[in-house]
Amino acid sequence: MTKINWAGFAKKTPKERLSQIKPLLSTESFNVLENQILLNQDVASQMVENTLGTFSLPFSIVPEIEVNHKSYSVPFVTEEPSVVAACSFAAKIIKRSGGFDSTIHNRQMIGQIALYDIKDTHSAQMTIEKQKKELLTIANNAHPSIVKRGGGATDIKTHLIDDETPLLVVQVLIDTKEAMGANIVNTMTEALKPSLEVLTKGKSLMAILSNYATESLVTARCAIDYRFLNRDKIKARELAKKIVLASTFAKKDPYRASTHNKGIFNGIDAVCIATGNDWRAIEAGGHAYASRNGSYEGLTTWQLDETNEKLLGEITLPLPLATKGGSIGLNPSVLVAFDILEQPDAKTLATIVASVGLAQNFAALRALVNEGIQEGHMKLHARSLALLAGSLPEEVSFIVDALLQEKHMNLATAKKILESYRHSIL
Ligand code: HMG
Repeated sequence: MTKINWAGFAKKTPKERLSQIKPLLSTESFNVLENQILLNQDVASQMVENTLGTFSLPFSIVPEIEVNHKSYSVPFVTEEPSVVAACSFAAKIIKRSGGFDSTIHNRQMIGQIALYDIKDTHSAQMTIEKQKKELLTIANNAHPSIVKRGGGATDIKTHLIDDETPLLVVQVLIDTKEAMGANIVNTMTEALKPSLEVLTKGKSLMAILSNYATESLVTARCAIDYRFLNRDKIKARELAKKIVLASTFAKKDPYRASTHNKGIFNGIDAVCIATGNDWRAIEAGGHAYASRNGSYEGLTTWQLDETNEKLLGEITLPLPLATKGGSIGLNPSVLVAFDILEQPDAKTLATIVASVGLAQNFAALRALVNEGIQEGHMKLHARSLALLAGSLPEEVSFIVDALLQEKHMNLATAKKILESYRHSIL
């Protein structure tokens, strides 16, 4: 484990931060950050269509997220102020309380083949069950390289959607190892279509992976000592109680749950983007999982442990993250992100990301039920406005302080303050 002295990290310049985290980086990654080497335009043109160039976002780091007794520095890519600060703040408190405990329940992807116009759906289901072994062989023969790496199709299940035209859905479980596996799953499910049509005497509608990755669930937990919530015991307990109420609010009210979960994905998406993962797939799976009980709920649960004076937090969600494949090897910034994370495997990355989601939620709830979100958020928003107005680094703190005194904090006000500040020092 590489030891970094994180003291005062937030207050340093990007150059100073880079030299502080140098021990985490390979020479190549250090060079990428020092010389701001970005995704090459030729590579970008090979990745997607009609490119005009590339697009940049801030690349940050959240220090010291302790997961299963190991401390990780976590790369974040986000445009939103206060997300990185909030997660860093939460990670610090949770580390003092023993860190996160995270478990991987399983790590398989699901592929679906939907069939229609089947005369006898019941006997079709029985036939598929009987032919399972042969069907798995067809799937694995369609993508032998994943089988060589120890993965491959492992099981087949069916269910019926009994509508006007019934649909027989065949679900294939596939171990995609370090990849997210969209190509592997889609290749295998498409290869199964002709055999399934013959076996069921039906027609296939489509074959595609499911982003509702219920076979890739991850749980992260933490137990925060009341004493880290507030020095005053009574205030600490009251704050813990309010965080529990906030979690109930999100469980029972979809309007609140949507914002609650957005806050969780502030962190999860930021790591997914930094590590080149498909954050739309992760979001889709997370929101579907949030609706598993019939209404849309908050993804975290907070409870009081009065005996031990702890606030207990928990999150479970599907996280089929990848460390290989897709665009991961193409983007130099993604390679830096994996260096910073000390090259985790896909399962370890999922435990880190689940913990980030829980940390992000803790920070948001703590602020919401305490001083309100605006205080911390606006402090950092003021910084963005100061920069947007054209402030030089040495002018930023003055402009931020002045903006925070204003009733209407916007770009026009920031520009006005900057102009009068520059005028005053002439
Ligand atoms: P604070 O008490 O003013 O922070 O809180 P502090 O200045 O005392 O610093 C405490 C620690 O926070 C620092 O320790 C850092 O770790 C971190 P130190 O390094 O000083 O030893 N920290 C920072 N790290 C990097 N850069 C910074 C920075 N500032 C503090 N500039 C804080 C300030 C923002 C942390 C707090 O107010 C907070 O957690 N607020 C919540 C903000 C939040 O959740 N933002 C997400 C966006 S809002 C949203 O979209 C989601 C939401 O709608 C979700 C929901 O409704 O559930 C809210």
